[in-house]
Amino acid sequence: MIFTRRIYQSFIMGWRWPLIISVLAVVAGLYLSGIFSEPPTPPPLGDGWWGRGGREKASKEDESIRKFSISISNDTINDLKTRLRNTRHFEGLEGTKFHYGVRPEYMQTVVKYWLNKYDFKAQEKYFNKYNHYRTNIEGLDIHFVHVKPTLKPGQKSKPLLISHGWPGSFYEFYKIIPLLTDPLNNGGTAEDIFEVICPSIPGFGYSEASHKSGMNAHVVARIFGKLMSRLGHDRYYVQGGDWGSFITSIMGLLLPEHVKGLHINLVSVDPPLLQLIIGSYFPSLILPAEDHHKVWPVTPLFFDVLMESGYFHIQATKPDTIGHSLTDSPVGLAAYILEKFSSATNMAWRDLEDGGLNDGWQMDDPLNNIMVYWMNGNMASAMRFYKENVPLLFGDINKCLIKVPSGVADFPNEVSIFRKPEKWVRYKYVNLLQYTSMPRGGHFAALEEPQLLAEDIRLFVRKVETLHQ
Ligand SMILES: *[C@@H]1O[C@H](CO)[C@@H](O)[C@H](O)[C@H]1NC(C)=O
Repeated sequence: MIFTRRIYQSFIMGWRWPLIISVLAVVAGLYLSGIFSEPPTPPPLGDGWWGRGGREKASKEDESIRKFSISISNDTINDLKTRLRNTRHFEGLEGTKFHYGVRPEYMQTVVKYWLNKYDFKAQEKYFNKYNHYRTNIEGLDIHFVHVKPTLKPGQKSKPLLISHGWPGSFYEFYKIIPLLTDPLNNGGTAEDIFEVICPSIPGFGYSEASHKSGMNAHVVARIFGKLMSRLGHDRYYVQGGDWGSFITSIMGLLLPEHVKGLHINLVSVDPPLLQLIIGSYFPSLILPAEDHHKVWPVTPLFFDVLMESGYFHIQATKPDTIGHSLTDSPVGLAAYILEKFSSATNMAWRDLEDGGLNDGWQMDDPLNNIMVYWMNGNMASAMRFYKENVPLLFGDINKCLIKVPSGVADFPNEVSIFRKPEKWVRYKYVNLLQYTSMPRGGHFAALEEPQLLAEDIRLFVRKVETLHQ
């Protein structure tokens, strides 16, 4: 009796409680960090059909590839200008810059520029600088820009698919394309010649929107893979930022026999929770010093994410509701997209009168990207991509190991949750050949720093090619 009581007392009051609690905390931390669970096996590639109504079984799939030109018609221009002239502006708060979102007074200058300076016909010509095509895949007309290099006898090019995300478009790649297809005139060598394919995600750009729910990154990865096969490419490289990084990563996961190498400039990996917690107190135990600022201190980074991610929540829940405004109002659409060209390019630009947009960008570039959404009236279908992808973001597919040769370009002004230290990237991208800490640049890297990104892609591809020799 006395014996049991002594044990009981020592359990309650003795030194054992702190020890037991610590052990439990460590076990819980290890469990949450996922070290007890095997990485899941990749899901099957699957198949699908996303056209309107029911599928007509009898009809054979139309595999033709149709060339077209982008047209900014007079009707489109006149209607847009009428809407811009009729804009109902409002007054901003005294003393705020971009802290409440895009400053109303700044939007007035954008409207003036769009009405009076933006050259619709010149930009139409610029859009058609590269060839545009459409082909039907899984019931949808899929748009892509296709640029083949001019090759001299003996020269060979490597096929490269580049994917955009939201709120970007194929236009993001207009400046990097010549660096990739014509390296000899742009600081590269003959081994850096690429044939470039920039598709539009269904529901974006000139790609038809899915008529059925479920159009997620897994489906797009499959559709892009089918596109590459249709173009006659069996082995190719893929590159992506934003959702494009997610899509091309899934291509690497599900089509490893086709993807020779995967290069991304945004990384979505879950931080290992235990390391995140321990590192909050002892960062040097977990990561090299140059990586600390990417993940710690957790609290301000977390609040930055919270402050900047309202769009994500609305698009992941009710994209069609806000979609009405953004499809109907060019100023609304422009403000919604410009906010990202400001804060996602450089978070510090929130403290500037013009959100850093005047000095940071040549207005025609963000406006051309906005025009792609305006002309196609597809901001709502583009925003639906968030709702469709939430199950994937938190599902098994995002935890699978990616084994194809991979490269990461880490741009210093990328949105903080999408910057991951090399050590953590390796947990998911197990065959990481290259991790470059870029000297400058943010979220829209291909448009902002085409030279830096092209150089990193070249370096990466040379490493993969060496592996194969
Ligand atoms: C479009 O407008 C321009 C200038 O206003 C005019 O020169 C051109 O003929 C118009 N095009 C068509 C197809 O009406």
